[in-house]
Amino acid sequence: MVSSNNKNAIITGTNRGIGRELVNAFAKNGYNIWACTRKKDESFEAELEDIALKCNVWIKNICFDLADENEIKTGIKQILSDKNNIDVLINNAGIPYGGSFAMTSMSKMREVYDINVFAQVQIMQLVSRQMMRQRSGCIINMCSVGGIETSPGYLAYGSSKAALIWITKSVSRELGPYNIRVNGIAPGLIDTDMGNYKSEKELNKVLDRMSIHRMGRPEEVAKAALYIASEDAEYMTGQIMILDGGRV
Ligand SMILES: NC(=O)c1ccc[n+]([C@@H]2O[C@H](COP(=O)([O-])OP(=O)(O)OC[C@H]3O[C@@H](n4cnc5c(N)ncnc54)[C@H](OP(=O)(O)O)[C@@H]3O)[C@@H](O)[C@H]2O)c1
Repeated sequence: MVSSNNKNAIITGTNRGIGRELVNAFAKNGYNIWACTRKKDESFEAELEDIALKCNVWIKNICFDLADENEIKTGIKQILSDKNNIDVLINNAGIPYGGSFAMTSMSKMREVYDINVFAQVQIMQLVSRQMMRQRSGCIINMCSVGGIETSPGYLAYGSSKAALIWITKSVSRELGPYNIRVNGIAPGLIDTDMGNYKSEKELNKVLDRMSIHRMGRPEEVAKAALYIASEDAEYMTGQIMILDGGRV
């Protein structure tokens, strides 16, 4: 039986993909979790109860839409009202968008930035106030190699993740004095709904550039997050861990 490590983590975008695996991995490692989703879903709640029971931790489902500033405020307030330490925040939820510079509308740019940038900043601001009072904390932002490489066709998504990388590094400087570490993970192609949008031809083109010739697994991203959250990484901050199977 796993036992709680008395650490508490907020994870966003937990109902599928990488976020779902983050919940599994963190619960298995004894973390209590506020599992954030856009909407309520009874079958997902039942799944969370099951994981909590097996891992001997508590998991609470908190619902808010990252596109709505007020919903974010209410959701985080709900978490803060528990009056528990917040040891880890994983800003995982995000949306993809593939579109060329010429074809990307301003409303699409705003939609992608609202979720991939502004919501992430707002959540960090709200949560870090509590972490500053605690004088401890670890924030992990799910970035992307798309924010490092400048591939044409990804104007909105790539630039939003580039902004998140800059924000991660800059915020780490401001929060360092409060003993709060701020890092990012930049996955390459991971086997989730988001990672599987490419045609076979496009997929092979990406795989051909990689040293490890396969898509990454969500659990591999979760392991990286566990390491960053752990005491083994206590001197690591302001870093972006690239996890892309060697797209060198
Ligand atoms: N998969 C990859 O290849 C890859 C590569 C690099 C970076 N990443 C990054 O890794 C993170 C997770 O990606 P993934 O592959 O797990 O994606 P995914 O399978 O598409 O899941 C995205 C998650 O984000 C949530 N989300 C999206 N918009 C939201 C909103 N407005 N409010 C609340 N939640 C919202 C989704 O909830 P709903 O189910 O309600 O939509 C879902 O839980 C993202 O930040 C992504 O950019 C992924």
